[in-house]
Amino acid sequence: MISARYPALRLRRTRASAWSRALHRETVLTPADLIWPLFVTDGAVGHSEPVASLPGVSRWAIDGIVARAREAIGLGIPCIALFPNTPPDRRSDDAAEASNPDNLVCRTIKAVREACGSDIGILTDVALDPYTSHGQDGLVDARGYVVNDDTVSILVDQAVIQAEAGADIVAPSDMMDGRVHAIRMALEMGGHTNVQIMAYAAKYASAYYGPFRDAVGSAGLLKGDKASYQMDPANGEEALREVALDIAEGADSVMVKPGLAYLDVIARVKALYQVPVFAYQVSGEYALIEAGAAAGIAPRDALLMEQLVAFKRAGCTGMLTYHAPVAARLLNG
Ligand code: PBG
Repeated sequence: MISARYPALRLRRTRASAWSRALHRETVLTPADLIWPLFVTDGAVGHSEPVASLPGVSRWAIDGIVARAREAIGLGIPCIALFPNTPPDRRSDDAAEASNPDNLVCRTIKAVREACGSDIGILTDVALDPYTSHGQDGLVDARGYVVNDDTVSILVDQAVIQAEAGADIVAPSDMMDGRVHAIRMALEMGGHTNVQIMAYAAKYASAYYGPFRDAVGSAGLLKGDKASYQMDPANGEEALREVALDIAEGADSVMVKPGLAYLDVIARVKALYQVPVFAYQVSGEYALIEAGAAAGIAPRDALLMEQLVAFKRAGCTGMLTYHAPVAARLLNG
């Protein structure tokens, strides 16, 4: 690198005024960077339930999700992500409800599509945890081990019925081996050639998912942890192998999850593979920002925007965040 030296070089020169800081800003956030995760519940029209561990976030009945989708369009948020709170009597050891074409998620996709046409992208999660009686993301054998290949065949059916209902992006969050290839082939064979796969490629076994498990109702069911399939937080190189595999298997974009504690992984993935990378700022991250603001540590908006710009600076194409409407309002002034 060629550089002058002090006093010819004074890095504070370009920071001296607001117009100059604006001119030299390297990273710019826009509402188009955001994906808004939403929780849907099987309730009557107008029904909603606040999620206690996520202050400001609710589960909505289908009409409420449609209203949120319209809100997103108005704010310039290009995509929503749907997560169902499946009624307890529809959860089972074999997760049959996951591949029921009339399940809550599929009905929600159709309602949003009918109301909003192609004005908004609809992303759906592919994993069994909202449908299993034990809260694991896959089928469990007699020893309690989450089995890979039998789970993948259900995930394939789940992804196909979501695509048939009108999902634009299917996002496998289960961390089974080989599932991206299997899903991609099934989508091609089913004629869903333009349905994207956003792979939760580097998903860590994280303490930050607690509030989400409350929101989808799996927290009380889950025995043990997810360490036999989600990644060890100590591993970075392994994340690069996970990402490489998912790209080779046909993922259109990859995700790193959680976000803030894994910025190094985002930066390494981007530098190595030049593919679209998304960060999931997960439920525990949302709750920490809210709790920090409530405790008077710093204003909520400042904490939020600093974290979001960090994801983009690290190399993200976009971020999933429960704060999406808050951030979009701030960005829209
Ligand atoms: C389930 C899934 C999880 C999240 C997204 N999809 C939870 C988990 O793996 O236990 C977490 C999202 C969040 O915490 O906001 N496959």
